[in-house]
This record gives sequence, C-alpha cells and structure tokens, in this order.
Amino acid sequence: MTTSAETAVHNGKLFIHTVGCQMNELDSELVVAALRKHGYELTADVADADTVLFNTCSVREHAEHKIYSALGRLKYSKRKRPDQVIGVMGCMAQKDQKLIFQKAPHVDLVVGTGQLSEIPLLIDNARENRERQMAISLARRDATRQKVADSFESYDPLRDPEMRPSAFQAYVRIMIGCDKFCTYCVVPMTRGPEQSRSPKHIVQEVQQLAAEGVKEVTLLGQTVNSYRHTENGREYRLSDLIASFHDTPGLERIKFVTNYPRDMTDDLLQAVRDLPKVAHYLHVPAQSGCDEMLKRMKRGYTVEHYREMMHRIHETVPDCSVSSDFIVGFCGETDAAHEKSMELIREFRFKNSFIFKYSARTGTKADAIMLDDVPEETKRRRNNEMLDLQNEISEEDNAARIGREYDILVEGPSKSAVKAGDDDSIPQTQLSGRTRCDRIVVFDGNRRLTGSTTRVRIDDCTATTLIGTIVTRELQHTADGGLPILG
Ligand code: 5AD
Ligand code: SF4
Repeated sequence: MTTSAETAVHNGKLFIHTVGCQMNELDSELVVAALRKHGYELTADVADADTVLFNTCSVREHAEHKIYSALGRLKYSKRKRPDQVIGVMGCMAQKDQKLIFQKAPHVDLVVGTGQLSEIPLLIDNARENRERQMAISLARRDATRQKVADSFESYDPLRDPEMRPSAFQAYVRIMIGCDKFCTYCVVPMTRGPEQSRSPKHIVQEVQQLAAEGVKEVTLLGQTVNSYRHTENGREYRLSDLIASFHDTPGLERIKFVTNYPRDMTDDLLQAVRDLPKVAHYLHVPAQSGCDEMLKRMKRGYTVEHYREMMHRIHETVPDCSVSSDFIVGFCGETDAAHEKSMELIREFRFKNSFIFKYSARTGTKADAIMLDDVPEETKRRRNNEMLDLQNEISEEDNAARIGREYDILVEGPSKSAVKAGDDDSIPQTQLSGRTRCDRIVVFDGNRRLTGSTTRVRIDDCTATTLIGTIVTRELQHTADGGLPILG
C-alpha cells in the first residue's frame, strides 16, 4: 500500500510489542485501532512488518533493558528494508526522549503517553520525510501544573470493537497521571499530572461498550479511587461514577484498579457492597509493612492506617478479596524491615501479591537522595521468601474453597487450552473465568459459554487457580411423581 505521498511505499503490516500495565494494554489497543482505520493490519511476525511499534514501561529498569535489546535486534534488519518505520511509544519515550535516538539511532519515532493520537501522522511524516519524529509532553519541573497537565492528552478515541483482546471484556480509562510522587516511582513523570476524565464521557463509553456486547469493564487509573471530577457544580467521586453507569443493560461486572490506600473512602466501600455488579475485589498496594520504609517511600500512610483500612473493607464487604504490591530491597531496608512486610502478608492474607525488587529510576526522589544500598542478592532472597509466603497463603485460602460453588463469569479457553489448540470442533475445552472475588477458576466446558455466567463447584486448587466442574442443572422427578423441578 502507499501513504499520502506516492514515494512512501510500505506493506501496511504493523507489529506492536506491548509491555507494562493495563494502561499500556489499553493504549496499544487504541493505537492499533486508529492505525487500522489508516489501512494497517496487524502481524505477529516482526520480520513481516514495515511498521514496528514498542509500547514501553519505565517502572523498572529491567523492562527498559528488554526494549533496548529488542531495538538492537532490529538494527540490521532495518538496513535491509530502509522503508521500515520503528517507533517507541509510552512511558520510556516520555522518560528517555532523545536518549532513545542516541542509544538506538535506527529508531524513527519517539511518542510519549500524552501524544498517542498523533501516531498515524507521525508515522506518515517519518516515512515520507525520512526524518526523526518526536512528540512528548512537558517535564513536571518545566512549567506550571496546568501547563504540564495540558501537554498530557488523555487518549480515548472511539472504541473499535474488533480490537479488543476479548469481545466481552474492556478496559475504560477514567483518569490519567499521578500526583502522589512516591519517592521510588517514575509514573508522575511519565504519565504526568493526575487528571480525571469527565463522567459524561466515561458513561457514554461504558454504554457503547455494553451495547457492543461487553459484559465486564475494568476502570483504569494509577490511583483509581482518587477519581474526582467536578461538572455543573457537582463533584463526582468513584462511587458516584460507578453508580451512574451501574444499571447499563448487558453489563454484568465492574472492576477498578489500582487503589491508593489513603483514598479508600467509606462511600466507595458502600458502593462495592450495595451495587451487585461490582466485583468484591480490591487491589490496594501496601508496598511495605514497615513504617520507616513507608515514610521513605512517601506513601502517606502507616501500617496502622493500612490496618484500619483493611478493617473497614472487611467490615463493609465481608467476603471482599484484597491483593497487594510489595517492593523488596528499597533503600535502607533491613532484614527486620523486610520481616515486617512478611508479617503484614501473614496478617492480611492477600489473595495475591505482586512483588518487585526495588529498581532505582532516574528522575525520582529516591534516586536523587537515597542510596540503593540493598545488594541484588539480598533483594532476590527477599523476593523469593515473600513469593513463597504469599503462595503458601494463596494455596491455603484456595484449598478452603474446595467443595463450594461459585458463579463464574467465563472468560474463554484457559491459556493452556489455547496453547493445546484452538479447534472449534472440540466441544469440551478447558475454560477459565473468575469468581466475583476475582479468583481464577478453570473447568471443562463448551467454549460457547464464553461471556456467560456459569455455576462451578470447586474440586481442587493450586496457589493461583481453583479447579472445578460445571454444576449441571438436571431435570429431576419429585418423589410423589409430580411435575419435574429444576435441581
Ligand atoms: N522499583 C520496583 N518496583 C516499583 N514499582 C513502582 N516503582 C518501582 C521501582 N522503582 C512497583 C510498585 C507499584 C507497581 C506497579 O510497581 O509496587 O505498585
Ligand atoms: Fe507511582 Fe505512587 Fe503514583 Fe502509584 S501512587 S503511580 S506508586 S507515584
């Protein structure tokens, strides 16, 4: 195919590699949808593509290294196909900017998180003019908060149903950016100031998605429960927002990630309790179980605050599951401090925890003023210890569910079933879905159950998964020979 300039020929094949959080997954979905409107089609084979995009993450150094290695591998292939356009988008683009061109001179495009709508045009420019294109937002230090905020545009174009990874699940962005400035975290720089989207636009988006068959929406925000938007003199919080689209026909389940402990207000917990479509599941990262570490991290709460929040969660929504994030080996973390995090996991028995070794990030306060003094070997040991503990707890709590029945929203063939084959003619395949408390359940069933709610009895488990059987509703005859009833 050709673009607007007759000289700029390319094969229309687009390869995109996405790493990082759900926000990145959504960004990639939207960018791909926009490029399809410009005539591109996706390929899973990078060797096939004249347009290659990397949607990147800067939260840890490891994720960045992997992208730079992947870029390095394209250096020679690009020599053979000079028309290829290679782009780096997302957090690493905003953070590293021109450094990307220095480290990988064959890159044509660097596009920050706030300029994603410009990608189709920037690709055309790069191809037609053979000139590097860079579009990024203002740095937080370089202008007023408002000016910096204006330079980060929330990218929420009309949704393309074909582009969703699943026909009945969708992410919906409700806010961008973060103003919490935890000392270890690069997100306030890469995603800019915290800005909540208008409830009107969010509700429209959810209604459109539900009309297209979406049953489950996951609201996204770096601190999703800090959502606040004033419209026509009224302030909307997350609880108001959820209530305003909760009754949308077709919609069955509502989730939201990631929560900030200090903003876990009672009105939100009451909404989780009272609105039947809301999952009884909260992801609320604790990061550490040691007050000294929490202070150094500038998390804005103590262990006692977190405990009080957990108490309120369980008081209001008794069966609510909670998951967490932890950083091990943060600056100055002693074995005693690490043990306090382990104690926190023992106390609250999280459904699951994401555990990360501290990674110093340029531009953060911790990197500027603290010493990354925990040796890698110690970080690794603490990481493994914590993983083992969390796995033990997850498995015990899953085992306690054996014999119970749950209504499962079926997500489709499980990952192992997909690997085994995608043959529609096989009626029974291993399906995967989730309970209302977000526990993953696998069971055999017909793939046509995807998107429906099915009752499953739990027979077995691992630390991460419940394993069950569909509870079939059989016609039974009553003892007195009366009318059959549904059992
Ligand atoms: N090093 C390690 N983990 C980090 N996270 C954020 N920044 C860093 C860092 N510099 C973790 C936090 C956060 C999750 C998304 O990533 O636990 O909740
Ligand atoms: Fe990063 Fe803290 Fe904001 Fe989460 S709340 S995105 S950890 S700065």
